[in-house]
Amino acid sequence: MQRVESEIARLIKEIDYDEVTRLFEMLSGGKRLRAKLILKIAPSHEKAPLLAAIVELIHGASLLHDDVIDEALLRRGVPSVNATEGSKTAVMLGDILYSKAFTELVEFDKDIAKAVASSVTALSKGEMQDVKMAENFNSDEQTYLDMLYLKTATLIEAAAVASALLSGKDALNYGIYGRNLGLSFQIIDDILDITSDEATLGKPAMNDFVEGKCTLPYIYLYEALDEKDKKRLVDAHAKKIDKEESAWIKSKMQEHKSIEKSFNLAKVLSDEASKAVEGDTELIQILQSMIQRSY
Ligand code: IPE
Ligand code: IPE
Ligand code: MG
Ligand code: MG
Ligand code: MG
Repeated sequence: MQRVESEIARLIKEIDYDEVTRLFEMLSGGKRLRAKLILKIAPSHEKAPLLAAIVELIHGASLLHDDVIDEALLRRGVPSVNATEGSKTAVMLGDILYSKAFTELVEFDKDIAKAVASSVTALSKGEMQDVKMAENFNSDEQTYLDMLYLKTATLIEAAAVASALLSGKDALNYGIYGRNLGLSFQIIDDILDITSDEATLGKPAMNDFVEGKCTLPYIYLYEALDEKDKKRLVDAHAKKIDKEESAWIKSKMQEHKSIEKSFNLAKVLSDEASKAVEGDTELIQILQSMIQRSY
């Protein structure tokens, strides 16, 4: 991981703009899940740290834009770039990180470059769908999962495919692993938005529903409620929420096991991922810590 961090630092330095270096420091940290995945799949390839750095720059850019889109004021435990420097700066910094990442991709074979670059188109489509879907209360599970695949799983899938191609491994199975890990990962993220708190998460809690995002626990809750309570839930959608209403939602979720059901799907997907890389204990370990994580 130290080599990934030095590669990231080198790429940022190459941008050759002190303001970018300063702003990028505000974005430091993060779990580095995507980088870890690449290093585990292509451990001995000399270009793996560069690939991991590229993917983390892309991920960082997506977070900068995501916080503008979601109007989120906290990221990785500190005020977001849009909160302190404004949305314009966050968008521009995101553009710089994306384009730097794409420039560096020319160092790799075409199929690797294509896998990573095209996942950014998918991610951006997913973000658009996420925003579009938030305009109305969405209670359709499949629509939600399709969006989630684009928004979150494609980059993780691309990281797995690209590193498998780099090290001459079976890209198909690693892709299945990455896709299911990514889906499961976002479901856990959505659960944590409800069950965890701001201090633990390092980003706002209970923000998804306020933003209009009907994540899986809300979809399962809606399915289980009677007509009167369905209406109450839909009325609370996409609005600032008070303590009483959020406590009601949480108690109903408990009653109808909505979180448990969501977690079970995350578990099923993570088992699918596990099957695709049977015997690779390190990759299975990544799945286990991902699913058990608290932030
Ligand atoms: C946050 O990703 C965005 C989602 C896809 C849920 P991470 O949870 O991997 O963010 P960091 O990099 O650890 O901050
Ligand atoms: C994932 O969605 C964001 C990206 C894929 C960029 P979220 O909006 O749920 O991410 P967080 O919760 O803000 O990290
Ligand atoms: Mg967000
Ligand atoms: Mg978002
Ligand atoms: Mg989230």
